[in-house]
Amino acid sequence: KELRIIGVPSDLGQGRRGVDMGPSAIRYAGLEERLKDLGYRVQDLGNVEVPTPEMHRVTNEKLKYLNEVRKVCESLYEQVRQVMEAGHVPIILGGDHSISIGSVAGVAAGQRSFGVIWFDAHGDMNTEETTPSGNIHGMPLAVNVGYGHPDLLNIGGFTPKVKPENVVLVGIRSIDRDEAALIRQAGIKAYTMAEIDQLGMAAVMKEAIQIAGSGTDGIHLSLDLDALDPMFAPGVGTPVNGGVTYREGHLAMELLAASGKVISVDVVEVNPILDEKNRTAQMAVELVQSLFGKTVM
Ligand code: ARG
Ligand code: MN
Ligand code: MN
Ligand code: MN
Repeated sequence: KELRIIGVPSDLGQGRRGVDMGPSAIRYAGLEERLKDLGYRVQDLGNVEVPTPEMHRVTNEKLKYLNEVRKVCESLYEQVRQVMEAGHVPIILGGDHSISIGSVAGVAAGQRSFGVIWFDAHGDMNTEETTPSGNIHGMPLAVNVGYGHPDLLNIGGFTPKVKPENVVLVGIRSIDRDEAALIRQAGIKAYTMAEIDQLGMAAVMKEAIQIAGSGTDGIHLSLDLDALDPMFAPGVGTPVNGGVTYREGHLAMELLAASGKVISVDVVEVNPILDEKNRTAQMAVELVQSLFGKTVM
């Protein structure tokens, strides 16, 4: 398997500046080299073009920068589609989580059957009707399973991108009230931190891999660094206490690696301005190493 890195320096999906520098921070932390160390052929395809928010105005308070987010996601869709078509594994570096509307669309191109593991403190299952912020990074999972604004649903020309019965949320601990209702209504399995505490990360990931990976042709991992406890990943725009530990995070990645089912991955929400000496980007690189098979010996 060959790996392809795609940067998406977008902060259009949320309100705090700096997450647009995520791709640089993750590259600076050595992503390409660390993957080559593991024996992979890796090529960095550079960044998708992203407009800066200063050039645009918010016209819809419930869907901020809708038009700009849509354009970025359409470009990313096209790039990811081509990487998948070539039989490679795309590693998409955010940017905020709104970019996963484009990445998941690209993975889904050609009506591929796949599952999604959404590793996150949040549900990202808001819509225009339920969003408390108007930030599109709180909506990408909803869009991917078929709920949301038509401009976002139509990227790639079909909806939904993935069947909700093959989608799993892992690590959640901050869900808006009406968002919870949509998670239930859609029938998405969600593992809260409480469940991770009770069952253990190994059991949770075993079930998650089963849900996303059985009867499908692979698993897309959407890794929001805010799933981790802020102690280990302080450089994120929407930190929430009580998250996944360093060891649980690596265990989850190792179990995914062992499954052999991962076909694509997003690494999102790294914000170097809010970080401490690039620790969060470093953490992201380490997690991706475990995801691609790094072991002690
Ligand atoms: N639920 C909140 C909202 O919709 C926060 C979303 C955070 N999402 C993220 N990808 N970090 O505004
Ligand atoms: Mn190539
Ligand atoms: Mn997220
Ligand atoms: Mn999040």
